[in-house]
This record gives sequence, C-alpha cells and structure tokens, in this order.
Amino acid sequence: MKLGIPKESIPGETRVATTPEVAQKLVKSGFEVLLEAGAGAAAHYTDAAYEQAGVKLVERGACFDADIMLKVRRPTDDEAAAVRAGAVYIGLLESCGDDPLVGRMLEQGVTVLGMERMPRISRAQSMDALSSQSNIAGYRAVIEAAACYGRFFPMMMTSAGSAKPARLVVLGAGVAGLQAIATARRLGADVHAYDVRPETKEQIESLGAKAIELDLGESGAGEGGYARELSDEAKARQQQLLADELAKAHVIITTALIPCRPAPELITEDVVGRMREGSIIADLAAANGGNCKLTEPDQVVVRHGVTIVGHTNYPAMVPADASAFYAKNVANLLEIMVDKSDSGPVLRDLSEDEITKAMLVEA
Ligand SMILES: NC(=O)c1ccc[n+]([C@@H]2O[C@H](COP(=O)([O-])OP(=O)(O)OC[C@H]3O[C@@H](n4cnc5c(N)ncnc54)[C@H](O)[C@@H]3O)[C@@H](O)[C@H]2O)c1
Repeated sequence: MKLGIPKESIPGETRVATTPEVAQKLVKSGFEVLLEAGAGAAAHYTDAAYEQAGVKLVERGACFDADIMLKVRRPTDDEAAAVRAGAVYIGLLESCGDDPLVGRMLEQGVTVLGMERMPRISRAQSMDALSSQSNIAGYRAVIEAAACYGRFFPMMMTSAGSAKPARLVVLGAGVAGLQAIATARRLGADVHAYDVRPETKEQIESLGAKAIELDLGESGAGEGGYARELSDEAKARQQQLLADELAKAHVIITTALIPCRPAPELITEDVVGRMREGSIIADLAAANGGNCKLTEPDQVVVRHGVTIVGHTNYPAMVPADASAFYAKNVANLLEIMVDKSDSGPVLRDLSEDEITKAMLVEA
C-alpha cells in the first residue's frame, strides 16, 4: 500500500506530514512511502534522512499516485483534483459544514478523513492533531509575546535595579491556553487566566496561575467539553466584567474559540486604549476573526501603543516538532485503519471503527 506525501503548498507552511523517524516505522509496517523530494526541508528534515529511513523520493506528481495521501493543510484546488479515485485523503480540512472543494473530491471517488473531526475520546488522544498543534501554538505564542515585550517576564533583582514580573492574562484555557499558562509560568510571569467553562478553574490553578472568575448569569459550557456561544446579554456582560482585568495586563494571550463559530470578541478597542504603553496581545484566534477587536490576521500592528500579534500559524514556527507530533498522530491513525497481511497492509472498512467513522466526510 502506497502512502503519498507532497510538499505543503500553502504559503508560509513549513510542516510536513511525516518525518524520517515515523516514516521508518511505516516502512517497517509494510507501507511504501512516496515523498515529494524536498518536502521536509522547511522542517529541517533532509531528503537524505528520508532516504535512509526507506522513503522513496519522487517528483510531485508521482506522490499523488498513492493509495493514501497524507497532508497537513487543507488541499488546494490542484491538490484536490490530483488525488486519484479510490484513494484515501487524510489531512486537516480547515472547514466547517458545506465544503464544495471536499465535495468535489468525494465526487471524484476519494475517501476523505478530516483530522479535525477526530473524536475527543481517550482512545483517540494519540491521534488528535488539533491538540498536538494547539499545544505547540500555546507555547510558541508566549515565546513570541516575550520576544516582542520590551520588559522582562520574570521578576529580576540585580545590582542595576529590579523589575516586577509581567502581569500576563490568558483568555481561554483549552489545550492552547493551558500550555500558554504553563509556558508563561516557566518564564516567571504573574499569570491570570479566564475561561467561560467553569471546570477550567481547577486546571488553571493546578498550573500555578490565578483563575479569573466572572458571574455571567449563564454557563458557557457546551457539548463534548467545548464552549458554546453566549447570549448577546452575557457577551456584553463578559466584555464589561473582563475590562478591568485586561486593562491591568501587560501581556494577553487569547485562545478563545467556539467550534464552527466566529471567535468571541473579548478585548474591545477601549480596553486596548487603557493598557500600558508597550503591552502585548498575542491573539491565537486571529484566523477565526480574533478575540481582540483590533487584531489583523497575519499582521503585527501597534494600536494605542499596544503590539497586537495576529499570527495564524504558530505550529509552522516550530516546524520540526510540529511535524513530528503531526506525523505520529497520523501514524497512530493509520495503525487502526489497516489489517496486516502477508502482502502488506490492507485497508479496513473505515465505517466500522468509531474513530475513522467520525472522521469520514459524507457526500
Ligand atoms: N481526547 C480528549 O479527551 C481531549 C483532547 C483535547 C481536548 N479535549 C477537551 O476539549 C475541550 C476543548 O479544548 P480546545 O482546546 O480544543 O478548545 P477550543 O480551541 O475550541 O477553545 C479554546 C478555549 O476557549 C474557551 N472559550 C470559548 N469561548 C470563550 C469565551 N467567550 N470566553 C472565554 N473562553 C472561551 C473554550 O472553553 C476553550 O477552553 C477542552 O475541554 C479540552 O480539555 C479533550
């Protein structure tokens, strides 16, 4: 069974869907791995390392002649058209609801598995790319904020004077937010965090941060551990109650998302205007509209003296580890997709396992 891995073609994408280490295991399991030459270069994985792992380096077109295509990012029109009938496509689809591009792939006879559709159950944890990549995003956003900040994160006492720790607020304590809290704590910041789901209080405190608690008059907890969209009244109340906490912050890392909805707007222009000159907002929700009114996706802007960082692809800024985690997620998924046979792996009925069933895009 052939696995095809093309170079990612979305501008700025540095990740690759498999690494030499993971590919070596796949080859041992009986897969033939076809990788576009140079596909791992931006993630610091050389063609030589892949070849040593038993990977066959091919021209771009040849890797689409595979039984299973492995991608990180959403397919482009050309990539979607190039996947052959009868093949399985695995990758992040980056869409919600109706998706004409994926619809065309299904019409072509391609079986499409969306990595973001991975059910959040214990058995699927090792395959959960949303978590592995969000974790990296939370870490990298704090590093970015620290690099942009003109002061220290930790308290510093030196013979030349002392500096107070940065007051850092994390909004949204899901996977990215909890890693942001942990990273900011390691850097010595004074960390406060808020999430609309009440059960996060304990998780925030277990990482040594202070939980910000607000009485919104309704719960933000939705289905499957995710948040739900608040009523307009509760949204307004939340903005108002958060305003003083946020205006006091020197650094804000925002990660608040609601599945398939625009990101909630938590930081108004008025709050930005009240923050201290030189403060930083790293808005991880930038691709979904932003948690800050003034965020511009893929831009770093200064508004009212505050630097607002709108990067939309933090995992691509940690390409070696992000690719390694993603590759392992996909390899763990492949393991439950096939049966072993003397002639190599054989595809199972993907609608039989609850994990692959949930990931399958239906026509
Ligand atoms: N395999 C598993 O069991 C598994 C794996 C990963 C995550 N999870 C759980 O899934 C849930 C979602 O995690 P995620 O990181 O994907 O979430 P996410 O990326 O969808 O959202 C990030 C966070 O933003 C918060 N949020 C949304 N609206 C908000 C608002 N108005 N104000 C403040 N915060 C707001 C959410 O509650 C969430 O914690 C969590 O409960 C997490 O523990 C489970």
